Amino acid sequence: MYKNLKQVTETAEALNMTIGAFNTHNLEMLPEMIRAAKEMGAPIIIQTSIDTAKYIGYKVLVAVVKEIAEDEMVDVVLHLDHARDFNEIKAAIDAGYSSVMYDGSHLPFKENIAKTQAVVEYAHPRGVSVEGELGTIGGTEEGISVAEDDKVYTRPEDAVEFVKATDVDALAIAIGTNHGQFKSKTEVNIPLLKEIHAVVDCPLVIHGGTGVKEEDYPELINNGIRKFNVGTELLVNWTKTAKDSFGETEVNKSLRHNVIPANIAVKNIVKHKIGLFMNVESPIKQTI
Ligand code: 13P
Repeated sequence: MYKNLKQVTETAEALNMTIGAFNTHNLEMLPEMIRAAKEMGAPIIIQTSIDTAKYIGYKVLVAVVKEIAEDEMVDVVLHLDHARDFNEIKAAIDAGYSSVMYDGSHLPFKENIAKTQAVVEYAHPRGVSVEGELGTIGGTEEGISVAEDDKVYTRPEDAVEFVKATDVDALAIAIGTNHGQFKSKTEVNIPLLKEIHAVVDCPLVIHGGTGVKEEDYPELINNGIRKFNVGTELLVNWTKTAKDSFGETEVNKSLRHNVIPANIAVKNIVKHKIGLFMNVESPIKQTI
């Protein structure tokens, strides 16, 4: 079924798990990502940057995701990642995206609130969920870089005020993660997450999931992370696998021989991550 972010994070909250939000970069990898979720018996969030949405087409993405979700009978959210331009957000909502992120983390606090409010006012009456962001996530994504010294961690008191003022459905927090970190792993600030979780009544979101140590997942999930973004790990492995296949395949062979192995590499990672995101070791699930 085609769902919005609020619906799947409610499920995640009830089961003390997190929902994987995986960035797609092309149409090739998309069906296997959704099939991975089906095989794991979990919902999935498919997210795109604005540039990917424009490359494929907003409406094409909506049609394909809806069709596969219905066909495979799996709960899928289609989410616009890191949008800073209201017109692009409007384009995604009007085309049928079920969730959007307004990223005002670069703005002064009050301006971030005001711009996020405007997005919520447009999205909510149309049944579309909104993710906001407070604090800055390091690293580079789609050409936007945040230097280590410019990283600002989320302050719990700001998070409380932001969620109350904006009515966002999920909040991306800065607790030390970086976008695009695939060669090393980060030290996540778990004490800060606990402080935020103790006072904020809103599903929390981890960005830069590729750089997060898998052994940290249970602590993150047990402290309110209900959406967990992973992009670079899929991208790097799709590209590596495709490079190998393209290198080995004769030029007159169907392109299938090159892209299917790359799609399967992505599927295997998505399945592995979803398994960890289901947090089966958590106390809540053990008592069921
Ligand atoms: P990574 O690409 O570092 O996994 O981060 C994904 C993300 O947070 C998308 O917003």
